[in-house]
Amino acid sequence: MGYRVAVVGATGAVGREILKILSEREFPVSEVAALASGRSAGQEISFGDKSVLKVQNLDTFDFTGWDIGLFSPGGAVSAKHAPRAAAAGCVVIDNTSHFRMEPDVPLVVPEVNPDALKRMARRRIIANPNCSTIQMVVALKPLHDLFTIKRVVVSTYQSVSGAGKEGMDELFTQSKATFVNDPIKPEQFQKQIAFNVIPQIDRFMEDGATKEEWKMAVETRKILDPDIAVIATCVRVPVFIGHAESVVVEFEEPVDLEQARAVLREAPGVILHDEREDGGYVTPLECQGEDASYVSRLRVDPTVPNGLAFWCVSDNLRKGAALNAVQIAEALIALDLLDRKAA
Ligand SMILES: NC(=O)c1ccc[n+]([C@@H]2O[C@H](COP(=O)([O-])OP(=O)(O)OC[C@H]3O[C@@H](n4cnc5c(N)ncnc54)[C@H](OP(=O)(O)O)[C@@H]3O)[C@@H](O)[C@H]2O)c1
Repeated sequence: MGYRVAVVGATGAVGREILKILSEREFPVSEVAALASGRSAGQEISFGDKSVLKVQNLDTFDFTGWDIGLFSPGGAVSAKHAPRAAAAGCVVIDNTSHFRMEPDVPLVVPEVNPDALKRMARRRIIANPNCSTIQMVVALKPLHDLFTIKRVVVSTYQSVSGAGKEGMDELFTQSKATFVNDPIKPEQFQKQIAFNVIPQIDRFMEDGATKEEWKMAVETRKILDPDIAVIATCVRVPVFIGHAESVVVEFEEPVDLEQARAVLREAPGVILHDEREDGGYVTPLECQGEDASYVSRLRVDPTVPNGLAFWCVSDNLRKGAALNAVQIAEALIALDLLDRKAA
């Protein structure tokens, strides 16, 4: 017998990927509900090769008797409906940033801090970290265990799918408009994204950092270690899917490159692909549809006493969102933290 799973935001970029991953990984479902706004209610959406689900309106959906809610409807909508689902007995795994920094809400990457899930009992809400944080901490965890990280300097190259389906549409429309000389009006992004890069993701904070940059710092500390200093520069690039990051790390202890390679080769969720020859690294195009956080260009940073630098790429819709959420649900089952309700 499987679990009753509600996918909230099922018509969106992340929600569609969640449905795909539940089916691909043969997650034990007895029933799946696809929920979105009233605008999409009644639409049909595929689940795996054989099933079609009718989209239901979140506003009127009763979560009583549902085991797991995989939420990605945006922060304000999760803020309203996740507590309602949790109060009805459903365990919520939320992809939005709304609950991430609340002290009694675990922020979890299963390869890094699965034990934090044991703290979810009171609220029955678990937060999925930001996409750019997830792929980085998966790669940092084995290095932190080995040499103890002091400071991280990260620059991101984030794809437009990080801004949802409307972000992808905007890159497509602007690219086409450029070739046919149509006027271009930025809507989802602050400036033209086609044939450009934009050093702003999310709004500005008082100290001059953007909220995305702040999220990378505070989330890394909550997941991995509160003593790690992180400075991030987050940049939107005209790529549809796949985030890339240049990560420079300073450690407490002396680093050994071969040891670093060896732990990254074995680390769960990491694939080390580092050939040191033309094309011997992974790019966003190549990681689309894949599950790992790919590490390439690993080298010593000679400008500090104990430093390493690397390039990290992952599919932001999968490991950065949908896959991590489904893996959290799998971990809840493995840790026996989920009650199964009868379908
Ligand atoms: N994209 C990423 O890489 C990524 C990564 C991590 C986290 N996230 C977070 O996940 C959330 C969704 O992202 P996305 O990229 O999937 O966005 P998206 O493509 O714009 O999809 C948004 C989804 O939310 C639904 N929705 C919007 N307003 C709603 C309402 N009032 N009631 C019910 N459903 C509503 C939409 O339904 P309709 O079709 O009916 O409008 C759609 O299914 C965001 O908070 C985002 O920050 C995204």
